[in-house]
Amino acid sequence: MAGFPGTGKIWMNGKLVEWKDANIHIASHVIHYGSGVFEGARCYETPKGSACFRLDAHMRRLQHSAKIYRMEYPLDLAGWIDAVLETIRANEMKACYIRPLLYRGYGSLGVNPEGNPLDAAIMLWEWGAYLGHEALEEGVDVKVSSWTRMAPNTLPAMAKATANYANSALVKMEAIADGYSEGIVLDVSGHVSEGSGQNVFMLRDNVIYTPPLGSSVLGGITRDSIITLARGLGYTVTESVLPREALYIADEVFFVGTAAEVTPVKSIDKIQIGKGRRGPVTEAIQRAFFDVINGKVPDTHGWLTYVYPGESALRTPALKAAAGKNR
Ligand SMILES: Cc1ncc(COP(=O)(O)O)c(C=O)c1O
Repeated sequence: MAGFPGTGKIWMNGKLVEWKDANIHIASHVIHYGSGVFEGARCYETPKGSACFRLDAHMRRLQHSAKIYRMEYPLDLAGWIDAVLETIRANEMKACYIRPLLYRGYGSLGVNPEGNPLDAAIMLWEWGAYLGHEALEEGVDVKVSSWTRMAPNTLPAMAKATANYANSALVKMEAIADGYSEGIVLDVSGHVSEGSGQNVFMLRDNVIYTPPLGSSVLGGITRDSIITLARGLGYTVTESVLPREALYIADEVFFVGTAAEVTPVKSIDKIQIGKGRRGPVTEAIQRAFFDVINGKVPDTHGWLTYVYPGESALRTPALKAAAGKNR
């Protein structure tokens, strides 16, 4: 496949299928109506072995996205986690991006998705820094998008649904066409929401702010981790409705997400943010985050799930607790 090298085997409804054979019918409901929910997680290579970052939280969010869309797939949280680990092991991956997907398959093409089978897949691939390695140090230039994030009670932003990414694609394409790396989208009230695939944080006078879930954001797992890590470093972090102009006068702005990790923003709409490069607080938070995901510090939050038996513990305590909670 041009530009996208396949990665061995894909898990499809419990079976491992060769990458080239992992096809679905053109009449599948998801292709026509965007009736899918998915996840994006990462597995990192650490000194103690390959470890998935907050796999339990990601798979729990997949279950929540599915619940919002009335999808009932016969796999509980522990089953999902095992399926991901099995897929990584089968592909002998050391580090990878993990993409579980639940979608309405081939059955009927009415708008009602419920006449179709609910199918699942887990695919993996190697994915480096989403906005480029340089961006992690130097920051990115972004614009406020002319597009608005989905209004509440239209497409639910808390569900990580394939349909939401039609909006994200419009934001991303416009940003690139206009010469920027990314877009920041406002919500229907004109307040800051998020990036096309990242949550946004800003720092002003030593307080860290991020928009609340009510501002049409995805409840990012990285967002939650950064709030915890920043508080651990002694910063005050508040979830606040943010006017657009607050970003322009912020001391620092950064994106967070599984793909983008922690990426500084150096300008917005050609207005320089702070000193126009990664600020010291962004750098401290970035370091704290990378130290955890790269296994350089003890995993005090129980965020890492080791993939291969014998490489540290197979299951973290947090994971065991989550498996009990399930829904
Ligand atoms: C729209 C959107 N917001 C935020 C995020 C960040 O979420 P997470 O940290 O769970 O990857 C993502 C990435 O999945 C996203 O697509």
